[in-house]
Amino acid sequence: MVESSQHNLPARMRVSKSLPMISYILVLALYFSFYTITPISSHSLQDGFIKCLHKNTYVDFPLDKTFFTPERNASTFIEVIESTAQNSRFLTKSLPKPSFIFKPIHESHVQASIICSKKLRIHLRVRSGGHDFEGVSYVSQIETSFLLLDLSKLRKIKVNIEDNSAWVQAGATLGELYYRGQFLGGKGTLIEVMNKGFPELGLTLKDCTEMSWIETILFNGEFPTNTPIKALLQVKSPFGKPSFKSKSDIVKEPIPVLGLKGIFKRMLQDQEQPASFLAWTPYGGAMAKVPESKIPFPHRNGTIFKILYNTDTEKKPTRHINWIRDLYSFMTPYVSSNPRQSYVNYRDLDLGKNTKNTKANYEKAQIWGTKYFKDNFERLVRIKSKVDPGNIFRHEQSIPTFPV
Ligand SMILES: *[C@@H]1O[C@H](CO)[C@@H](O)[C@H](O)[C@H]1NC(C)=O
Ligand SMILES: *[C@@H]1O[C@H](CO)[C@@H](O)[C@H](O)[C@H]1NC(C)=O
Repeated sequence: MVESSQHNLPARMRVSKSLPMISYILVLALYFSFYTITPISSHSLQDGFIKCLHKNTYVDFPLDKTFFTPERNASTFIEVIESTAQNSRFLTKSLPKPSFIFKPIHESHVQASIICSKKLRIHLRVRSGGHDFEGVSYVSQIETSFLLLDLSKLRKIKVNIEDNSAWVQAGATLGELYYRGQFLGGKGTLIEVMNKGFPELGLTLKDCTEMSWIETILFNGEFPTNTPIKALLQVKSPFGKPSFKSKSDIVKEPIPVLGLKGIFKRMLQDQEQPASFLAWTPYGGAMAKVPESKIPFPHRNGTIFKILYNTDTEKKPTRHINWIRDLYSFMTPYVSSNPRQSYVNYRDLDLGKNTKNTKANYEKAQIWGTKYFKDNFERLVRIKSKVDPGNIFRHEQSIPTFPV
């Protein structure tokens, strides 16, 4: 899903919001991925796939709106690949592109695609609304011939105020979801809370700008002032497509002054525009009341805040990536440990990758798996081993199965 763009920002620490529930939906959506390569030509593969789809769905799919191949129209094909790729670092020519793209317009097309991929042994990657920091939904570094199932036409959102639930199709963006509204509190309440907790900051009404929650989404997304909120429905960031590398940390103890000084020093080293930034997201509150084992997302009671590190990789990518890795290494003593935790929606392939040899994956995957999910990782592997023992849905950091 798209987190209304936080990229290409001036260097400053910012606070962002995230919804664990939404993240969870995304995680599920990203689990869709496939492997195995068939040595058939891509033409007959496509024809076979289309024939197979027809046999497995009763809902028609006009090919000109749902099926995209480089042979039919190369420019349209590239346009579709790039349309919801949120990180242009993965759009370079050298990275393997899908052989063809299918955009389901009905749920049954998704089911049929999975059946047909399995039957025809075509590796499958599934792409939802966005927020895929490492491009695993549209680039495969471990298998080259694959098909992209692009869910951008499945984006219905149903909010039920009465039972406090929301059903969101995987193709929707956060902008579209947030558009459905919410109220957090006025500035009077904020001043009260701040003067109790942080009187030393001396915050006054003058320092606060009051806006509706949905307006803050535009504000945090760095849209120009007075942009109509409908812009969130256009699914486009005001900055085009950033190329970036991100990492994350979970913080459990206040960072001492020495640590803060080190952070500032390093931030000042990477100030070429667009500059690197950190986003610190406060945790605790209602999130801390949910038991760690309730859903896969485990960063609950005892977490003070989360850090997103971000650097722009449009120019001099190696230098920027080295810079962010150095900052991450510097932060070791100031953040969670054993394991050092990370946020799965800020996916970071530096933490480890699946290899093609699925048997060897489990032990290695425990390293990054417990960072994202703590004890829930083991349970996820247990579920995965049960529902997908053949590891059909996979990517560079998908949940592995237990070794047999
Ligand atoms: C490809 O599609 C674009 C946009 O739909 C169209 O303008 C162009 O003429 C097409 N090219 C070919 C070779 O069909
Ligand atoms: C969070 O942990 C602290 C310290 O272990 C404990 O005192 C507190 O009751 C916990 N809060 C919740 C909501 O579980």
